Amino acid sequence: MKILAIDTSCDETAAAVTEGTKVLSNIIWSQASLHAKFGGIYPSLAKRQHEERIDFVIEKALKSAFPKITNHQSLITNHITAIAVTIGPGLAIALEVGIKKAKELAKKYNKPLIAVNHVEGHTLSVLARSRNSKFQITNYKFPALAFVASGGTTQLILVKEVGVYEIIAQTSDDALGEALDKAARMLGLGYPGGAILEKMARLAKAPAERAHLHDVSSRQAHYNLPVPMIGQENKFKFSYSGLKTAFYKLIELTKKKGLGKQQIYDLAASFQDKAFQHVERMIKKTIEEYPVKEFWFGGGVSANIELRKRIRNICKNQGITMRLPYSKKLCTDNAAMIGVVAYFKAQRKEFVKDFEKIERVPRAKIIDASP
Ligand code: KG4
Repeated sequence: MKILAIDTSCDETAAAVTEGTKVLSNIIWSQASLHAKFGGIYPSLAKRQHEERIDFVIEKALKSAFPKITNHQSLITNHITAIAVTIGPGLAIALEVGIKKAKELAKKYNKPLIAVNHVEGHTLSVLARSRNSKFQITNYKFPALAFVASGGTTQLILVKEVGVYEIIAQTSDDALGEALDKAARMLGLGYPGGAILEKMARLAKAPAERAHLHDVSSRQAHYNLPVPMIGQENKFKFSYSGLKTAFYKLIELTKKKGLGKQQIYDLAASFQDKAFQHVERMIKKTIEEYPVKEFWFGGGVSANIELRKRIRNICKNQGITMRLPYSKKLCTDNAAMIGVVAYFKAQRKEFVKDFEKIERVPRAKIIDASP
């Protein structure tokens, strides 16, 4: 079964071809540089860019999935079994572009249509494997605890089995990626800032009294910032607004003393450290309370080496397997992860019954039933 998957949930126009959990192609056209001058996503620009690029991205995904086939006219007819598309969560007017295109293709080529939740995509992205891999990941154990952290989502999800989820914790204000982006912006580092903040944090100076510590993360905290919701982990909530406000005040204070390069590196490391300590504490609490057999980490923030390392330590201490997407392209928004979810849905025969009823669901939750 080969699936053509489409995702236009935010500022990446993405299309992929998958076969089971195997990724045959994964094409992403990022608009991030166009939105950078607005310091965030400009919805009508995102929509327009998706409309302009979607055909090109789909064509590229098909051609690179089937490099030996020269008759491109018949690629969908002869080689694609079903079309999958993200219906939410995401930007309404951006989602609409992908849904319209998927509907159009499913009708034109008479293929079944599969509606996919974007957060489920990030959750199952750890099960995707490359086109050259010989082995399918089949030895996963449930329940798994998935941490999905991106620009729009920060959730701990208990995966009881593929398709059966329970949301354990989510953010009550900013998502982790959003908080990292805002911190980067406060430091004048541009948008999207998560990856830049990570780079800057690596250049932080270890304070002398901690330099002897082997664990780099515990050497990094310089500035006095609060760890969010410390001691309140039993509320099972993430919150980044308090840390963000404290960070803003700290920057203003530092500016008075002089904000040079080294201060920026140290501030970046301090913000990351506190934001990640919050994640660590929440994960430890959840593992204490729930019978977790594996840990899955997906979403744009899962590209962060420092956070990976911290979570890996927790998993190691608990004897839990940790799974990550096999490439960075699968961490940030992409359509291959949508194809992987669609494969499991197809096995359960969860196809869209009435094409006219498929709609964008900007606030869709992973636990919502399929349309
Ligand atoms: O999954 P994604 O591409 O889009 C959403 O669904 O939101 O995630 C984008 C988010 C941004 O906030 C970006 O700053 C963050 O992921 N991100 C990172 C890194 N790479 C991307 N955050 C921390 N470290 C990184 N290396």
